[in-house]
Amino acid sequence: MNDLDQLVQAAQADFAAAATPAQLEDAKARYTGKTGQVTELLKGMAKLSPEEKKTRGAAINETKQRIEAALTARRQALAEAELQAQLKAEALDVTLPGRGRSVGGLHPVSRTMERIEQIFGSMGFDVADGPEIETDWYSFTALNNPENHPARSMQDTFYVDMKDEAGRPLCLRPHTSPMQVRYARQHAATHAGKDPLPEIRVIAPGRTYRVDSDATHSPMFHQCEGLWIGENVSFKDLKAVFTDFFRTFFETDDLQLRFRPSFFPFTEPSAEVDIAFSSGPLKGRWLEVAGSGQVHPNVVRNFGLDPERHIGFAFGMGPDRLTMLRYGVADLRLFFEGDLRFLGQFR
Ligand code: DAH
Repeated sequence: MNDLDQLVQAAQADFAAAATPAQLEDAKARYTGKTGQVTELLKGMAKLSPEEKKTRGAAINETKQRIEAALTARRQALAEAELQAQLKAEALDVTLPGRGRSVGGLHPVSRTMERIEQIFGSMGFDVADGPEIETDWYSFTALNNPENHPARSMQDTFYVDMKDEAGRPLCLRPHTSPMQVRYARQHAATHAGKDPLPEIRVIAPGRTYRVDSDATHSPMFHQCEGLWIGENVSFKDLKAVFTDFFRTFFETDDLQLRFRPSFFPFTEPSAEVDIAFSSGPLKGRWLEVAGSGQVHPNVVRNFGLDPERHIGFAFGMGPDRLTMLRYGVADLRLFFEGDLRFLGQFR
């Protein structure tokens, strides 16, 4: 074997040993690079006679071509190996079932809220919205619940480390009742001087907050406030409105309603409202669904109205509770954990 054949063999072995394109380019430089062995051989030809140049030149060129062919073959082999590795890594199993795209839906409590708005809307109630960060005054004081009154501790309020523009302390509203005062004051101002004052008929659904957490209480929960004020509105009207509402909401006439005496600072007299179904899994059990009562004269005064002329009732109910009853769910926390396996059932 002559020196040129040996060189080709050495190059082939070097190329075969190169495991990456970069290593292969390094190996190539050792042969056909500027100072590579083939290049050196070509340079050495200067010393030869014209006759020798011809044969030696042809032989070196052939060597160079063989080395370049080996290089190209190895380049292709490495590229092919890389492609195969990539294909293997990105393997796509076309026989797997598709993931599909699921359709979103409203949260069950949002469905209840919409239902409440729609039913009360059909009874002529306006729907109002108000701030969740509320002043102490609207949350308690205006609702006949003075500072240091023990009734304030009925609600374990989240206080906020801020004050409003007027320097009043703020809290996360523990109920939607502040909306009675906000809405009524606005109404009285809008219709100032009108005699008689158009009736106030409003519901205010929304989020409320209390330091409370167990199977039936969540620190964030929902309430829906209601207020109906006129010159001739009574408990009888409240009972009629509630009966209509609950029968429509639960889609059954087999439903009874009772008022149970209770206490709220903002109503006098006050009552808790219970319902009972005459059939179904909850048959015969009294279930508390709302607080209510005739609006206290002090609160009517804070509306900016004369309690001798303007009377009516207020109520507050729990849309979360209504959702649990409607769908037969025993743990309130399920609604707020965001688990789609649970929520997806209500689409
Ligand atoms: N705000 C009361 C609560 O959170 C519920 C309530 C009771 C609202 C009686 C009312 C009412 O408007 O008249 O416990």
